[in-house]
Amino acid sequence: MAITRQQVTQHPLLELTTGFMSFKTFAAAVELDVFTKLAGGREVTLPEFAQLVDLQERPTRLLLPALVSLKLLEKKGEFYRNSAVAEEFLVNDKPYFFGGFVQFYSHALYQGWEHLVGALRANTPVLAPPDGDTVFGSEDDFMIRYFWEAMHALAGFTGLALSEAYDFSAHQRVLDVGGGSGGIPIELCRRVPGLTGTVYELPHVCPIVEEKAAAAGLAGVVGAQAGDFTKDERLPSGYDAMILSQVLHVLDEENGRALLKKCYDALEPGGAVFVCELLLDADRSGPAPAALMGLNMLIAHHGGENYSDQEYRTWLAEAGFVDLEVVRFEAAGATGAVIGRKGTGHRVIGSEGTGGV
Ligand SMILES: C[S@@+](CC[C@H](N)C(=O)[O-])C[C@H]1O[C@@H](n2cnc3c(N)ncnc32)[C@H](O)[C@@H]1O
Repeated sequence: MAITRQQVTQHPLLELTTGFMSFKTFAAAVELDVFTKLAGGREVTLPEFAQLVDLQERPTRLLLPALVSLKLLEKKGEFYRNSAVAEEFLVNDKPYFFGGFVQFYSHALYQGWEHLVGALRANTPVLAPPDGDTVFGSEDDFMIRYFWEAMHALAGFTGLALSEAYDFSAHQRVLDVGGGSGGIPIELCRRVPGLTGTVYELPHVCPIVEEKAAAAGLAGVVGAQAGDFTKDERLPSGYDAMILSQVLHVLDEENGRALLKKCYDALEPGGAVFVCELLLDADRSGPAPAALMGLNMLIAHHGGENYSDQEYRTWLAEAGFVDLEVVRFEAAGATGAVIGRKGTGHRVIGSEGTGGV
């Protein structure tokens, strides 16, 4: 059947093709500190903007309409100011600052994705060391500076969204397995009186956790324990909640299932494990953030992909967990938590599925 002009246009293809321009414009503005310089509702004219950001007149004239069209800045008359989303998430000292994530994608993943075709053909990651090791073993300044800042940018908001979807008040001690900089336990402990948290991480990541906890005023409430969940036979014990956020997606299925079994063995009876991920639909038709993050695992890791909540439920049940359910929320790093319990007893707000107590 002939396709008429009314049925389809090239516009969606143009959007896909120029997507990189949007991203790089956004990343450049973050790198130039545009949003931090305009913090607090500051309004500037074009010449004032040029001076503030230290750009010449022509690039400023080209950059400003792009940032307005991307809804990162607003224009009122001759004046430019941060949009609401930029003011909330792109100002350097704000609690859910997103800039670290943008910088990591711009300086590391962007280059990796240039080799996507090769990774697809060879089933070989671009960024991981060739010896089968992971990108996380690296103690290089780049990873320390960008990667865990990137994770921190997402984790705090995941913690916020999780704490709104699930009532943690019945829990006392939370272990964040592969918890990165500790953004999730910092957020949970800030919100739940009496809750303490430990991040179980590779040794070179632990100082970052201590630093972030101290900066949040939670030194002594959130701490770090050095370990390696692949090599250690047992995980730390004495915890009645365990978080696995964006950890199972970096592992292949065999290692992911093995880690869940270790969580089950170490968890206190009656405790719960929370698998926080960008969850794929059961029929693997999307959504795009989960599907694209899956491809990102091909770029960055030897194994690992994104899964649906049904798949995680199967893994959790096999590890011994019961009362399985999923709570959905909206965060850039996770669209829900698949919960399994070693026993019963915790109240869940807004859950779907079976077994809520
Ligand atoms: C994708 S990041 C997720 C970080 C954090 N959970 C979050 O959601 O922001 C994966 C984390 O797992 C940690 N990790 C990887 N392999 C590990 C291992 N064998 N033992 C302990 N932690 C590990 C990495 O250091 C990294 O911080």
